[in-house]
Amino acid sequence: MEKRLPHIQTILPGPEAQKVLALDRQFVSPSYTRDYPLVARRGEGMFIEDVDGNTFLDFTAGIAVASTGHCHPDVARAIARQAETLIHMSGTDFYYPLMARLAEKLAAIAPGDFPKRVYFGNSGTEAMEAAMKLARYHTRRHRFIAFMNAFHGRTFGSLSLTASKAAQRMGFGPLLSGVTHVPFPNPYRCPYPHSPGACQCDRLCVEFIENQLFRTQVPPEEVAAIVVEPIQGEGGYVVPPAEFLRRLRELADRHGILLIFDEVQSGMGRTGRMWASEHFGAAPDIIITAKGLASGLPLGVMIARADLMDWKPGAHASTFGGNPIACAAALETIRLLEEKYISNARRMGDYLLERLGGWAEKHPTVGDVRGKGLMIGIELVKDQKTRVPNPEARRQVAERAFEQGLLLLGCGESTIRLMPPLVVEQHHADFALDVLDRTIAESER
Ligand SMILES: Cc1ncc(COP(=O)(O)O)c(C=O)c1O
Repeated sequence: MEKRLPHIQTILPGPEAQKVLALDRQFVSPSYTRDYPLVARRGEGMFIEDVDGNTFLDFTAGIAVASTGHCHPDVARAIARQAETLIHMSGTDFYYPLMARLAEKLAAIAPGDFPKRVYFGNSGTEAMEAAMKLARYHTRRHRFIAFMNAFHGRTFGSLSLTASKAAQRMGFGPLLSGVTHVPFPNPYRCPYPHSPGACQCDRLCVEFIENQLFRTQVPPEEVAAIVVEPIQGEGGYVVPPAEFLRRLRELADRHGILLIFDEVQSGMGRTGRMWASEHFGAAPDIIITAKGLASGLPLGVMIARADLMDWKPGAHASTFGGNPIACAAALETIRLLEEKYISNARRMGDYLLERLGGWAEKHPTVGDVRGKGLMIGIELVKDQKTRVPNPEARRQVAERAFEQGLLLLGCGESTIRLMPPLVVEQHHADFALDVLDRTIAESER
């Protein structure tokens, strides 16, 4: 069978795309961050076709959402079947089997060898709001500790935890009080001075909380939860050292603080395990996920230790959260992930990382390549010695890649992230890396 590749047949944006852009410019909120003018009409597997008939290879998965690829036939069938049966009845006030069945499944696959219960919302930020509210409700403590460069969402609670770009917070203060941000262990940009090869930021970042923060500013008895992305997403696809989450777990346990893992982006098989935290051998008290959970239908969940869920009826709910169609899509997504796509993510992630192995030697602007599974970051810098971020190179690379039929997105200050659907095959990976290799070389000229 012939292997499908992208095909660009108009100048970009094409004539139909231009019409949509004009309409969008007039009527849609200008707060969105579109890096290049892709106007999508149809999706299939790894590909997006635009309104002018151009096809693109999608290495963004619609921001890490289309885990089973675009419009996977099994997912589409599950959605269609459910749409003909029951679209909505609100789990807030009524029962339906899919919500209970999905909760049972999520409780079974979430990390931690203890009983769990599940709260349903519609997005990552809603899942985080629920986690924060439950943590406060259960502990009767009000403070949170979060990490610099973290992204947890954009509603007021989760925005108070978010600290990846000032523009996301500017103009919205005052935010929730009682949130303190501490350094995240980033081995490429270690927050603590050290001699070469002797970085110990996982230990030092945790010791900072214990020895500095708790002694001088934040009484640990007032901290409801520590909130962390096991691998930072929007902040730059930063993989912490292996011991970090275990050390955080110990710290939290010492002080009766809850540990919340935000796996909105890193969960649902993206890293080659169901949860990124599995790579680090630590389990949270509360885990949230969204993006890849329902292959594109809006669904965000908060899964907590059952004994924490002592809140009373009326304490928290959402009209649409966990609607039957999203639940049907999620159950089918999880089935597919478990059956074949998580192992594919592992295999293809290894392949991509292996091919990217020598890039820092051959490209003077490639500062760091890092990641797990299909959550891979390539950090571009002005030069490798100073490691000054190079957002202009990243912008150029994303734009040129788009012109050649490859969809990419950035994260952090100047990192390109590779987050294709988990259905990606080797020839897709080869195409993407060839385009990237070329466009990075062009930007270096
Ligand atoms: C780690 C993480 N948490 C939370 C969110 C917020 O999710 P949503 O945009 O669905 O509200 C995101 C979105 O990018 C995320 O990456």
